[in-house]
Amino acid sequence: MKKLTFMLLVLVLSGMTTAQSQVAELTVNLKKPGIAVQPDMYGIFFEDINFGADGGLYAELVKNRSFDFTNTPLSGWTTYGLVEVRNEGGPFDRNPHYVRLTNRWELLTGTGLINDGFRGIGIKQNEPYRFSVYARSLDGTAKKVLVELIDSKNNPMGRVEIEVADKNWKKYSAEIKGRLTDAHARLHVTLTTAGVVDLEHISLFPGTTWKNRENGLRQDIAQALADLKPGVMRFPGGCIVEGNNLATRYQWKNSVGQVENRPVNENRWNYEFKHKFFPDYFQSYGLGFYEFFLLSEDIGAEPLPVLSCGFSCQFQRGREQVVPLDSLQPYIDDALDLIAFANGPVTGKWGKLRADMGHPAPFNMKYLAIGNEQWGDQYHLYLEAFIKQIRPKYPNIKLVGTAGPSASGEEFDRLWPQMKALKADLVDEHYYMPPQWFLDNARRYDKYDRKGPKVFAGEYAAHTTPVKINSFEAALAEAAFLTGIERNADVVQLATYAPLLAHIDAWQWNPDLIWFDNLRLVRSVNYYVQQLYSHNKGTNVVPLTRNGQTVAGEDQLYASAVIDAGKKEVIIKLANVATNDRDIKIKLENLGKGVTLSKSVKATVLIGSMKEENTLDEPNKTIPVEYQLELAGNELVLHVKKQSFNVYRISY
Ligand code: AHR
Repeated sequence: MKKLTFMLLVLVLSGMTTAQSQVAELTVNLKKPGIAVQPDMYGIFFEDINFGADGGLYAELVKNRSFDFTNTPLSGWTTYGLVEVRNEGGPFDRNPHYVRLTNRWELLTGTGLINDGFRGIGIKQNEPYRFSVYARSLDGTAKKVLVELIDSKNNPMGRVEIEVADKNWKKYSAEIKGRLTDAHARLHVTLTTAGVVDLEHISLFPGTTWKNRENGLRQDIAQALADLKPGVMRFPGGCIVEGNNLATRYQWKNSVGQVENRPVNENRWNYEFKHKFFPDYFQSYGLGFYEFFLLSEDIGAEPLPVLSCGFSCQFQRGREQVVPLDSLQPYIDDALDLIAFANGPVTGKWGKLRADMGHPAPFNMKYLAIGNEQWGDQYHLYLEAFIKQIRPKYPNIKLVGTAGPSASGEEFDRLWPQMKALKADLVDEHYYMPPQWFLDNARRYDKYDRKGPKVFAGEYAAHTTPVKINSFEAALAEAAFLTGIERNADVVQLATYAPLLAHIDAWQWNPDLIWFDNLRLVRSVNYYVQQLYSHNKGTNVVPLTRNGQTVAGEDQLYASAVIDAGKKEVIIKLANVATNDRDIKIKLENLGKGVTLSKSVKATVLIGSMKEENTLDEPNKTIPVEYQLELAGNELVLHVKKQSFNVYRISY
């Protein structure tokens, strides 16, 4: 019996010793605030991909409202009776097409057209919708036009009638209410009296939009962006900036001014992938540069526009176009004029346009990117041409160059020295890589040149195999990687996940940060990682070490720490990617004289099933959970769950 007791004691003690030696001891040194974290650090990257603008963030519910989709003016519409597309004498010279509806008594159904919206029109019960149309009655006598919402089972669910009596083009507006909720309703517009009317720019907006703006944004999507508290917003892309060819590149000047007269443009993502063919993907530019600046301002993000540098999208390998270097001036003028539009006095042409659109105050744009992810041996010459003209005139604008489409390799190695030589302020790096790459790269920026251009991690996401989904596995890898970005905040000054938005029925690229259908939205678990970083960015990095080393993958732990000098908080981020729970002690050292730590710790954990994602039906499967902890003296004694991301906030 005694022997057994002794044996047990030995076992227990040796067990304790093992358990103790397994406790990972981390130290946060609070001696002095370290490198500053840029207030703009964690942001968003908006591109009109996956029906992210038209059909997404932009609240317009009618697709091809102006009948100007190239070669397919009736795309999105089904007609009945006598409907003819015309393009002379319309009210908008840059969107010249309109429809002529002729109704004769023998056409009992009337003459009209049906719009399918963006994979249906999302209508909410009892919500008001704003219908509008430009119309004229050819003989100047009163004609009745019936506007109906029809549900997905073909039942009428709302109607309003308008009378068109004017011979000249005039805007008619009416409110229409949905009797039911339906994500796949349609809009019918019917001329019910005999005669001829012309219709143009047929539009339907929800009564409620973000900030209740007339040419507004979808409330829930804009709110989800605001809830990220992004520091920067990069727009309008991506490949979309470059276009399928130079003619279809994004030209910001086409996206401002009167909404109805912004010329519709093909979307770069219409037929990029053979298995994802979207001939009905165009850009109305209803969400244009003015609206992007406004949104940036609303959500507190620094606007970071990207402009074409004279290359169409290089992924087209062989079909790409490059404007000759000696013909680049109009592109450079676009950049100079954009700065004037965003920041210039209202006495100038572009500042006046901004004021006329409703924003006399400057937008205070600080960043401008030239080119998206260009490569090859010419890009630097093009960037140089822009820099030569922009720098002397606008020395305070931070110019962003590119390191190409990959995180390493020949092009990357060629471009970085060129960006240094040109003294680009920031270099945009892109990486869509497997989760393991993100884990392996937590030290990526430790050795970057502190004196060279800063890094803008402008597009990144962990892509799982065999299926790319917004799994917790991907999100956890991103969270772990971001500890390395935070630790190197003097080098990496901006970071934006990509892409941002995706319509569940019309996407080209996954994973994406936020998914939506015509009525609902889901924030991916990757979204919550971004949010945890952005809400907890702090102001200064402080060293967090284990045995004197940074914590970047040893024993599958990743950690970093910042202080928020304003709020007087220490914020620690910790990712345990191991398949076992860990006991961890974090000691807060060198507090300084008279400084005490509050006992209570606000903790947040993000934990989920590695292969699962949040869905529209189960949006809250994996979301951050907050709880309280207590400090033991100046130590945080933790039992950290396997495969979890954790944030701890301690006031001082
Ligand atoms: O984010 C999707 C695409 O990925 C972007 O348009 C492009 O810049 C990158 O190749």
